[in-house]
Amino acid sequence: MAVISLDGVGRQFETSAGVVDALADVDLHVEEGELVVVLGPSGCGKTTLLNLVGALDAPTSGRLAVAGHDLTGISGGDLYRYRRHTVSFVFQNFNLFPGLTALENVRFGADVAGRRQGEAVAEEVLAKVGLAERATHFPAQLSGGEQQRVAIARALATGNPVLLADEPTGELDFHTGVQILGLLEAQAEAGRAVLVVTHNREISRMADRVVELSGGRVVSDGPPAGGRAPAGSLRW
Ligand SMILES: Nc1ncnc2c1ncn2[C@@H]1O[C@H](COP(=O)(O)OP(=O)(O)O)[C@@H](O)[C@H]1O
Ligand SMILES: [Mg+2]
Repeated sequence: MAVISLDGVGRQFETSAGVVDALADVDLHVEEGELVVVLGPSGCGKTTLLNLVGALDAPTSGRLAVAGHDLTGISGGDLYRYRRHTVSFVFQNFNLFPGLTALENVRFGADVAGRRQGEAVAEEVLAKVGLAERATHFPAQLSGGEQQRVAIARALATGNPVLLADEPTGELDFHTGVQILGLLEAQAEAGRAVLVVTHNREISRMADRVVELSGGRVVSDGPPAGGRAPAGSLRW
C-alpha cells in the first residue's frame, strides 16, 4: 500500500490578479522504500505539493492520505501527531537553528518526535552523516554541505517514516550535492518513503520513479529514462 497517496489533488490560490491553480488534478503515490523525484521548472507547483504532503497547507480539492492519516481536513491533535511522528522535512536553505550546535539541532529532531534517549540518538545519527567531529559547531561555523548534512541528520533523528526534501541540493556545488543525495538514497533503501522535488533533471536519474509537473499538472510518471542511476554517478 502507498505511504503517500494523492488522488485528484488541487490547490487553488485566490490572488488579486485572479485564481491561480498551483496544482490541478494531481495523482501521486509513493510506496515504502521508494524514492520519487518530482521534477519541473520554477513555478510548476513543486513546493505547493510538498507543503500539502507535509500538512503545512491543505488541498482545495481531491484526497490526500499519508501513512494512514487522512490529511483532507486534519486538525488539532491529529495534525500535531502527524507532524511529530510521520513526516520530516529537508529544505533548500537548511533551516537550522543558528543558536543551537550541530548536535543540539539533531537532538531537537529526536525530541520533537518524542524519542527516548534523544542525546544518544542524535550522536548516532550525526556520526552516520559523517559529522561526529563537528558536534559542538554552530551552523555559522559549518560549510553549506555540512549544514545540509546536519539538516538531514535532524530529519533522520525523528525516526519518522516519510522524508520530504525541497530542492535539497539547490544551494550546493555538485560534488557536495551528490553526497547529500547519497544520504537520501540510503533512507529509501532503509525503508522510508522519500519524496524529493527539484528542477534539476539530472537528479531525477536516481529516482525509482519520476513525476514531471508542468503548470501544476502531472505530465508524466514512470521510471527514469535509461533506468535508475546511483546517486554517486550523477553529474551536473
Ligand atoms: N500562497 C500563494 N499565493 C498565491 N499564489 C501562490 C502561492 N504559493 C504558490 N503560488 C503560485 O503557485 C504556483 C506554484 O508555486 P510553487 O509551488 O512555489 O512552485 P515551485 O516550487 O515549483 O517553484 C506559482 O504560480 C506560484 O506563484
Ligand atoms: Mg519551490
